Amino acid sequence: SPSSTRVESLSLSGLCAISPEYVRPADERAGLGDAFDVDDRDGLQIPIVDISPFTGGNGKDDDDDQRRRVVVEAVRAAATDWGVMHVAGHGVPRELVDRVRTAGAGFFALPVAAKEAYANDPAAGRLQGYGSRLAANAAGHRDEFGRRVRELASTLLAVLSLGLGLPGSRLEDELTGAGNKGDDDDLVLQMKVNYYPRCPQPELAVGVEAHTDVSALSFVLHNGVPGLQVRHAGRWVAAARSPEDTMVVHVGDALEILSNGRYASVLHRGLVNREAVRVSWVVFCEPPPDAVVLRPLPELVTADEPARFEPRTFREHLDRKLSKKQLLDEQHQKDD
Ligand code: SIN
Ligand code: FE2
Repeated sequence: SPSSTRVESLSLSGLCAISPEYVRPADERAGLGDAFDVDDRDGLQIPIVDISPFTGGNGKDDDDDQRRRVVVEAVRAAATDWGVMHVAGHGVPRELVDRVRTAGAGFFALPVAAKEAYANDPAAGRLQGYGSRLAANAAGHRDEFGRRVRELASTLLAVLSLGLGLPGSRLEDELTGAGNKGDDDDLVLQMKVNYYPRCPQPELAVGVEAHTDVSALSFVLHNGVPGLQVRHAGRWVAAARSPEDTMVVHVGDALEILSNGRYASVLHRGLVNREAVRVSWVVFCEPPPDAVVLRPLPELVTADEPARFEPRTFREHLDRKLSKKQLLDEQHQKDD
């Protein structure tokens, strides 16, 4: 079936036109095109936030409180209006990021069959790409990159909690079922690698279909080739070539649920282009699958703003989302 054909095989086949199974339905083609040409015509851009007042480490002076308030407001606004931001001053050292990118290049030189061993499992809700779980739970050995991203997740969750007018620890405590600490209830970090082959007809195909992430937060690195598009105010906006050393951070479904929709899980997709292979590395920071029930924080639920989401575990959320997608796909096939 088309969905089980990995997009990568396209690049190996050297086609002059894409095979019909990759052609997106007409209603999905709006805004598609060569990722090098699709730019933001009216200058709309994903916000850039510099969080160094929270990651700087050095002694605190009086100005720091003021700087931190500015960061909280900028992150709150980005997470509310966009659900995505370029994060500067994230504190993950450049050499660790470079190491991830280099290891990725080696991985994609492997034969397709070898890579299949790491392929994501659609039944687990990971629809495309290659994935692996970073050893990041309390019991496991955690590599340095995973450790730094985990720290960054804590920092951002604290900033996002403050942005909701709540204590800094509130979101992370809720996501990890604090108070009932065990090995099963830390945040889970998963890495997914997206490989976007060059494509002769980028206006007809997508590299990664439009979706929201199920995670609480996702952290995106890439090889500098454009391709990410996000949905904002009813249109697709291409992520600009971000400043050096920034990371794209998505708000995912889990955070949208906890914040009762104040923070928006961003709809996004990956475009292909004719000229260059794009690779992206995404670290998903997820709640534990079963140990925590995700629900809007009671402090945010009022008569004016009733709960917008039913309680569910992360695993239940994945299952529901996957069955919805299957239903929609079947519907699409019938309509064709
Ligand atoms: C994704 O977030 O699913 C794709 C991100 C990217 O390739 O930039
Ligand atoms: Fe995504």
